[in-house]
Order: sequence, then structure tokens, then C-alpha cells
Amino acid sequence: MVDPTTVQRGLESVVALESRICFIDGKEGRLIYQGYDIRDLAASSTFDEVAYLLWYGRLPTATQLDDLRHRFRELRTLPPELAAQIDQLPADANPMDMLRTSVSTLALFEPGETKPGASSIGGAQRLTAVLPTILGQFHRRRAKLPPIAARPDLSSAAYLLYALLDREPTELETRALDVCLILHADHELNASTFAARVTASTLSDLYSSITSAIGTLKGPLHGGANERVMELLDEIGTVDRVEEVVKAKLSAHERIMGFGHRVYKVEDPRATILREWARRIGESKGNLRYYDLLRAVEQVVHREKGLYPNVDLYSGAVYTQLGIPPDLFTPLFASSRVSGWTAHVLEEYEDLRLIRPTAKYVGATDLAYVPTGQRG
Ligand code: SDX
Repeated sequence: MVDPTTVQRGLESVVALESRICFIDGKEGRLIYQGYDIRDLAASSTFDEVAYLLWYGRLPTATQLDDLRHRFRELRTLPPELAAQIDQLPADANPMDMLRTSVSTLALFEPGETKPGASSIGGAQRLTAVLPTILGQFHRRRAKLPPIAARPDLSSAAYLLYALLDREPTELETRALDVCLILHADHELNASTFAARVTASTLSDLYSSITSAIGTLKGPLHGGANERVMELLDEIGTVDRVEEVVKAKLSAHERIMGFGHRVYKVEDPRATILREWARRIGESKGNLRYYDLLRAVEQVVHREKGLYPNVDLYSGAVYTQLGIPPDLFTPLFASSRVSGWTAHVLEEYEDLRLIRPTAKYVGATDLAYVPTGQRG
């Protein structure tokens, strides 16, 4: 029995449940999805294949992968009512608010998906397939780009870039984004995944669980750090100013976004892979400015605070070089993590237990009730 008097703030190091989906070795800096090391998956797999792995617990055969890809293409289109709703939202709406609202609305047009306990791989596939279209529908209107088309010829990563940029990405750009999607697909009981599981544990439905997760990911301590990393680089400007700007922030006890992690006590293995992709994409664009700045920031933060980079340090540099606007970085994170969120919801349903921790009460007790008229 856990000692009910010891409070673990932020549930730090509390083991809340058993899962087969993802293992993080914070000491060794290892990340494993259903038994496969993220380094192998980033080198050889695709996001479509990783989504299959997270849901089914095994890598697909060629036929199974083709079937999933075909299914994703079928499930990309929005109900016209949702497309109309997105078009009526304020053009300056926060894209994470737009995404959360759209997923909630979508549920109302998906037969049976709002019933208690409604959760299926079909719903998981639908949400994973449709999030890029929701983002594209919203961004194309505000950027005054032509309306989105189905484009069944494009893979998930290529379609996501087409949806946002209205152009066919190069092979290198598609591969870079596919690796980013693989790296962001799952991460054990991070705050947004935990939020999804808490919602599912009440026998609420899959779409409500994903709505909870999107709202949670919006928080800057979880999602959005990569957007702030790019703001920091703009503030620093040139490599020779890195030392001065970063040390001033650290002395003011400011957090340097993209560093530190609740679980990793060494370098986040995703940062290792993204650092290389930031270099490759930068080289292909003839612009290593972001990469050089980030390498310099890394050295100062590690020397001054002993902190290591996390997944957010280099991802913004990759996205920026792909032409993706900063306020779409976290929605992009969501369009990948929805595969992990839905895998965890399905796992929660397999062995459901209402998630309900307790609090240590430190307030007053036995106060006498005083009628309203007699209160000072
Ligand atoms: C993600 O959980 C997941 O798996 C999340 C994620 C996923 O894939 O889902 O990995 C994605 O959220 C990555 C993290 C993105 N966020 C940031 O980069 C924001 C900046 N990072 C920090 O806010 C922080 O490192 C956290 C929130 C990520 C983790 O914080 P903890 O575990 O609560 O650590 P802490 O706040 O107790 O800090 C411990 C010490 C403190 O120093 P002291 O006050 O004790 O002297 O480390 C310092 C902190 O000040 N510290 C930092 C820092 N992070 C921690 N100092 C400067 N800059 C930082 N980034």
C-alpha cells in the first residue's frame, strides 16, 4: 500500500499502470515502441507503419500496411458541416483550440462514436487520418491558399505537408517529416496521454479522450516548447550572442525551452535524431543558421545547468525549414501523437480501472457553520 501521507507532486515517479505500448529508459536514454527501438524505427520505418505497430502490437505485413494506407486515404475527408464550421472560426483562432473544437464536433457526425465506451481501431484510424485535413482546412483559409483536395496518391507525411503548404514536398522533406511523426507518436504516460487514459477510464468515449489530450498538450510545459525555441533563436540572432542571452535567462531563473525532461536524465534519444535532421534539412536548404545556433545553445545550457536537449529543441528548426508556421508546430505534434493517444485509450479499455488518486487534505476541519447575517 502506498503511504497515503506522502504527496508525490506531479505524480513524479508514481507507477500508475502497466502498459505494453511504450518504454522509456530515462537513465540510458532509450525509447521503445511495442519492443522496437526508436532509432531503428526512425531509420527504417514510416509513420503509417508505426501507427499500426502502436495499435496492433506488431509490425504489419506488406498487405496489412497497404490496407491501412488505403484506409487512411479513405478517412481523410471532413463532413461538409465540419469544414463549414472551421471556415467560420476566427482566422486568428489558436490552432490548438481549433483542433480541440473540431475533434469534438467531428464526434457528433461519426455514428455511435459518442456512446459511453465507444472506442475502436476504426475510430483511431479515422482520427489519425483526419487531423491533417482539419489543420489544412483551417490554415489554407487563413493563408488564402486554394481549398484542400483528397490526394489519395500521397503518403501520410506527404499529405500533411501538402495540406499545410499546398505544394508537393520533395522526397527529403517528406522523409524528414515522416521521421518527426515517428518520433512524436508516443511517449508513455506524458501528461496528454495520461489525460486521455483518465478520460477513457471513466468509460467515456474515444473522441472525448482525444479532446482531453489535445487540451492538455496545448500547455507550454508540454506542447509548444519548440515554438518558443524558435522565438529564442530569433531573440539571440547570431552565434556570438548565445552565451550572453542564455546566461542572462538562466540567471533570471528562466526556463530554456527544449531542455530538461521529467524522465530522461540524459539526452532524449529523439533529440539526437532530430539534431541530425535539422542539419540535413538545413544543408539541403543552404541554411545552417538554426542548427549552428542550437548547437551553441546546447553547449551553454549543458555547461551552466547540466541539462540535456529534449524532443522540442530541434523539431522547430526542421519544421521552419519545411515552411511550416510556428503556431502549427504543436498541432503537428498532435497529428502524430493521436496514434499513441488512441493506442493508450484502446489499452485502457482492455483492462479498465477507473483512475482516481487521492489528495492529502491540509485544510481546516470541524468549523462551526455561522448563518449569513451573523458573519463579519
Ligand atoms: C515534452 O512527459 C513527456 O514525455 C513529454 C514529452 C512527450 O513526448 O510527450 O517528452 C514532450 O513535453 C518535452 C518537454 C517540453 N518542455 C520544455 O522543453 C519546457 C522546458 N522544460 C522544463 O519546463 C522542464 O524540464 C520539464 C517541464 C520538461 C520537466 O520539468 P520537471 O521534471 O518538473 O523538472 P523541474 O521543473 O523540477 O526542474 C528541476 C530543475 C530545476 O532547477 P532548480 O530550481 O532545482 O535549481 O531543473 C531546472 C529547474 O529550474 N530546469 C530548467 C529547465 N528544466 C528544468 N532550467 C532551465 N531550463 C529548463 N528547461
